Amino acid sequence: MENKKLIIDYQEYASREELPAADRALLDAAIAAIQGSYAPYSHFNVGAAVRLADGTVVKGANQENAAYPSGLCAERTAMFAASANHPGVPFESLAVVCSRDGKLMPNPGSPCGACRQVMAQYERESKRPLRIILGSGGPILVFEGVESIMPLIFNDL
Ligand code: THU
Repeated sequence: MENKKLIIDYQEYASREELPAADRALLDAAIAAIQGSYAPYSHFNVGAAVRLADGTVVKGANQENAAYPSGLCAERTAMFAASANHPGVPFESLAVVCSRDGKLMPNPGSPCGACRQVMAQYERESKRPLRIILGSGGPILVFEGVESIMPLIFNDL
């Protein structure tokens, strides 16, 4: 038996002003996407934006439902919309932000496991690492590839 450690490399930026321009633009698109959040139950508003390899930006926001499990997270709303409307165009990056009562949360939004699994599949289809930008009103974390936020990804191939 051997004890092993996983090490994750990521970048932390103190504020959106510090981000490279392309990441900042995608984060801003995710912030704008919050307008489309429908969250009458949790009152927790999440926005996401996917940039495709051809430069197209597709936004998504969480959608809730009286039958709770029928709702969907912002990340999957954005990714499914991107794939449905631009089939086969590789994903380049994804930004996520969250807010409550019209105020961005102090900590970065962190995608749930189901959204990470969906990211992993589109990343594999895209044949390139998906850049993941997690921010809100405070520090912003940037990860290069889904493996960084979901080690030991399930892969059916
Ligand atoms: N939510 C997202 O949209 N993305 C996440 O990464 C975590 C949670 C949504 C689901 C639900 O509408 C609300 O936030 C509270 O869980």
